[in-house]
Amino acid sequence: MKLKESVWESNGGNPLHIIAIDNDVQTIDHKKDNAKHTIRTLKNELERKQQEIEQLKSQLKAANNIIKDIDQTKQNLFENIYAIENLEREKLAYCLHEGIGQDLASLRYMLKDTIEQLAAKNISTYNLPEIHAMMAKTIVEVKNVTYKIIPADITKFGFIHSLQSMVEDLNHHFSSTKFTFYTNFTDELPSINDQLSIYRIIQECINNIIKHSHASEAGIQITSNHNSLLITVEDNGVGFDYSKKLKKASSRGLKNVLSRTKDLNADLLVDSSPRFGTCIHILLNNRPI
Ligand SMILES: Nc1ncnc2c1ncn2[C@@H]1O[C@H](COP(=O)(O)OP(=O)(O)OP(=O)(O)O)[C@@H](O)[C@H]1O
Ligand SMILES: [Mg+2]
Repeated sequence: MKLKESVWESNGGNPLHIIAIDNDVQTIDHKKDNAKHTIRTLKNELERKQQEIEQLKSQLKAANNIIKDIDQTKQNLFENIYAIENLEREKLAYCLHEGIGQDLASLRYMLKDTIEQLAAKNISTYNLPEIHAMMAKTIVEVKNVTYKIIPADITKFGFIHSLQSMVEDLNHHFSSTKFTFYTNFTDELPSINDQLSIYRIIQECINNIIKHSHASEAGIQITSNHNSLLITVEDNGVGFDYSKKLKKASSRGLKNVLSRTKDLNADLLVDSSPRFGTCIHILLNNRPI
């Protein structure tokens, strides 16, 4: 801005009158126009950016919806796979239990009867008693395999009942570790797949206790609190280094426990170290229990 001014001053040097201010108004107007133009351009730019942000927001929303749909489809797919898998397992378990298992049981009774009749007539029973004993073992094996394929009781009585009978069976057949079972959970989880997953997780933990822990005592606890469920499987055995063992390619069991826990949206905590026993916690939160 060009500014020219003349001031009429008193003898004392005080300004008495401003004679002229030559203001280059044109320059000011021009700058004002420029500034207005810049503001308008910036406003337009801002509007364009805001539109872009809105567009991006709606694209993000659409992408989130697609992700939700995919998750839902994945969940449905898993549920269907589980359902089909369970159906197949049930069929197989039924064939084993009701077919082969029952046939073996009848054969065993018939054999027992034959042995008794031969003995009553003082006729040698040769090795029939051993065959009878072997058959008894085979029947137990078939029963165990059936249990592994599907705990038949789960669909009928729920997983708590199945776990209780599993623990009873264990204490009956496996005397080196004393198993205890505690629960304050009297209801059942609404989803049969969740029940089966929890059952499988506990089954793997128990198998590991039997196979690896050398524990004298082991306990399974299922405690419910409001809408959460805490599952604990612990033993006083030799313990192990969880993160190290998890990396071992041959260890399928722990990896399955981890992936089942993830599928259940649950938290897994393995508290174990060599010589100090093992405590495995699975926490299911916010369930409609
Ligand atoms: N309760 C336990 N006490 C002591 N060691 C354990 C226990 N559970 C697991 N382990 C150790 O962790 C390893 C990995 O267990 P994991 O269940 O993954 O495999 P595995 O039992 O050896 O074989 P599988 O794949 O048939 O389950 C075991 O080999 C064992 O050394
Ligand atoms: Mg295992």
